[in-house]
Amino acid sequence: ATDVDSPNLIGAVDQGTSSTRFLIFNASTAEVVTYHQTEVRHILPKEGWVEEDPVEILESVKVCIEKATENLVGLGFKTTDIKALGITNQRETTIVWDRTTGKPLYNAIVWLDMRTASTVQSLIRKTPGEDKDYLRGLCGLPITTYFSAVKLRWLLDNSEVVRKAAEDGRCMFGTVDSWLVWNLTGATDGGQHVTDVTNASRTMLMNLSTLSWDDQLCSFFGIQKNVLPLIKSSSEIYGKMALTSLKGVKISGILGDQQAALVGQSCFKVGQAKNTYGTGCFLLYNTGFNLVESKSGLLTTVAYQLGRNKPAVYALEGAIAIAGAGVQWLRDNLGIISSSAEVETLASEVDSTHGCYFVPAFSGLFCPYWQNDARGIICGLTQFTNKKHIARAALEAVCFQTKELLDAMYKDSGLELTSLRVDGGMTSNSLLMQIQADILGISVVRPAMTESTALGAAIAAGSAEGVGVWRLEQEVSSIGTSDVFEPTISLQERIDRLARWKEAVQRSMHWET
Ligand code: G3P
Repeated sequence: ATDVDSPNLIGAVDQGTSSTRFLIFNASTAEVVTYHQTEVRHILPKEGWVEEDPVEILESVKVCIEKATENLVGLGFKTTDIKALGITNQRETTIVWDRTTGKPLYNAIVWLDMRTASTVQSLIRKTPGEDKDYLRGLCGLPITTYFSAVKLRWLLDNSEVVRKAAEDGRCMFGTVDSWLVWNLTGATDGGQHVTDVTNASRTMLMNLSTLSWDDQLCSFFGIQKNVLPLIKSSSEIYGKMALTSLKGVKISGILGDQQAALVGQSCFKVGQAKNTYGTGCFLLYNTGFNLVESKSGLLTTVAYQLGRNKPAVYALEGAIAIAGAGVQWLRDNLGIISSSAEVETLASEVDSTHGCYFVPAFSGLFCPYWQNDARGIICGLTQFTNKKHIARAALEAVCFQTKELLDAMYKDSGLELTSLRVDGGMTSNSLLMQIQADILGISVVRPAMTESTALGAAIAAGSAEGVGVWRLEQEVSSIGTSDVFEPTISLQERIDRLARWKEAVQRSMHWET
């Protein structure tokens, strides 16, 4: 049969912090054929705590699969045209469930959650020299509230149900990819307990060189290996769908969402980088087969391993906790906009913030500062300041934070980027993109197809051995470039504004005592 008679379609589940989506790609063109999306509810039981319901996450995936598949049939395709399915997910978010009942033992603790601040303190106290970077050599990460092992430690210390299940050998741990794959492949009836190297590299339990759970790391956090999933590559057949109308379809790709965007943006060469603007904002920089340990507050992480017998490729990552979440806060908490998209209109009604700076350190500050005790501030207010300036300051905050990541990246790698590839929901905001180019002083390149995250998962799934409908070299020319934003402000203005931003950051620090 020709491609036209029997198209090769690949599904991609994109389970993010704020939404779940299922996209169906045509493997010959890399185009999205159809998709469905639903919101995911955040549960905020206490200040600083952010949870999600694992069952709701799973249900949202099933709903998205069913609705998108219905759309597909409506377009004249068959569900059997879907040859494989990939999964990409919010990383670090921690789920524990019962091996015998299949039920969650606790709500998912979301990566943004700050409840582990005191666990972090006691873990750091255990290290020689009380050094939060003590484990970097093994796992590439500092000891902070962000990563899964710290959340799992908290669960074992604070939930009797979790502790008891662990003691009885019933406790299973996973990031969202593991939870989904286990359920989608049959749960208590043959479900596969697996994760991929990219997600595992965010737990603090995987050794970055051996790509295995590390004895020293597991004993540091006091975690038994029998709760952990098997670590697999990002592109291989993990199992088959046991539910939904895609029953029998192979699941053959798993990538953490930021790594997926790197693949989706075709950053396969050393020195290529992308920045994804979602709930948070994440800049990943391909360092090839080299593990570069950051001296500037960045993270070392696995970028991808596209096949069981392929070597892992590594990345330096700059992670910002609050990007789109800052705009949502303007909408939900301040009510100064009624939709996230409105922020662009509001902010463009003024030509500057008139000295107003907004540091959205709601979950402390991530890269390059790693300050758990920072808190959000809006400063430089006068009687003249209005909601337009604040909206603009919220956008600028994303851009200044990205600038600080790029500067740290330069310090660590010595390589200067001449342009930045961007993707993610917020990149439809052209004002944000222009401010970003102004603040960075380099061009910002927005591709025509900004679904890079889902595309990355589809590429991993479609190119897996035993699926083989997607050739790695083929896809990315089709992404195309739609817009390039060039800097328009002077060097001096850039320097001055960045200096003011840094002063504002200093004022946000050590607020929580
Ligand atoms: O590390 C957290 C990250 O994976 C979340 O991504 O797109 O949900 O902001 P996103």
